[in-house]
Amino acid sequence: MIDIHCHILPGIDDGARNAKESLRMAMIAAADGVKKIVATPHVKETIHSADFLKKCVTKLNDILQKRQVPVEILYGADAYALLAPEDLKRYTINNTRYILIEFPYTHIPLNAADILFKMALQGLTPIITHPERIPTVIANPETLLSLLKGDVYVQITADSLVGNFGSKAQDCAIYLLKKGAVHFIASDAHSSIVRRPILSGAVDLAERIIGKEKARMLVEDNPLAVITGKPL
Ligand SMILES: [Fe+2]
Repeated sequence: MIDIHCHILPGIDDGARNAKESLRMAMIAAADGVKKIVATPHVKETIHSADFLKKCVTKLNDILQKRQVPVEILYGADAYALLAPEDLKRYTINNTRYILIEFPYTHIPLNAADILFKMALQGLTPIITHPERIPTVIANPETLLSLLKGDVYVQITADSLVGNFGSKAQDCAIYLLKKGAVHFIASDAHSSIVRRPILSGAVDLAERIIGKEKARMLVEDNPLAVITGKPL
């Protein structure tokens, strides 16, 4: 499996606090069957340079190699949707056109279609992160579904699907899955203790809802297309 959303870089954001914690997270992911992890630090209040983040990825890969943890870390970011689209271009996943974008926790803005269109004009393909946790989407999933025209994709959080973000987020995740409006399941992991980098439980559940083949696409085929810059 490939996890396209994980706060595994040490000491950068509210994810892994240090390299030991990054190592623990990578070991948990490896044991769960994850082979590649896109490191996606928040690019929001603190805007680290892309060069700096890429160096952090290289450093972490060196540590994992030395410790023989069979996981490769790739470059990416969890980019705030309201940043200027031309600035977002530096934070695409593995230097492809795909980018994780995070809307405000409370709502999807009324001008979201315009925001997404401006990203497309910059050559970006946005992947909307965890909409199932956004109250206005929970209240009216149509606000999300209406945005999924053209090259706009959706990532839900594994923990939402298994109920760790409460029944409303879980119900919304299941609803979006059944609607065919989910393209990725990712961990959005922040530590080795809570919000862990585990996908298997969510994939098992997704298999029961949409079938094995479609569920595996969300953690294998689609993420592979993203990190190699191919169409989904
Ligand atoms: Fe995140």
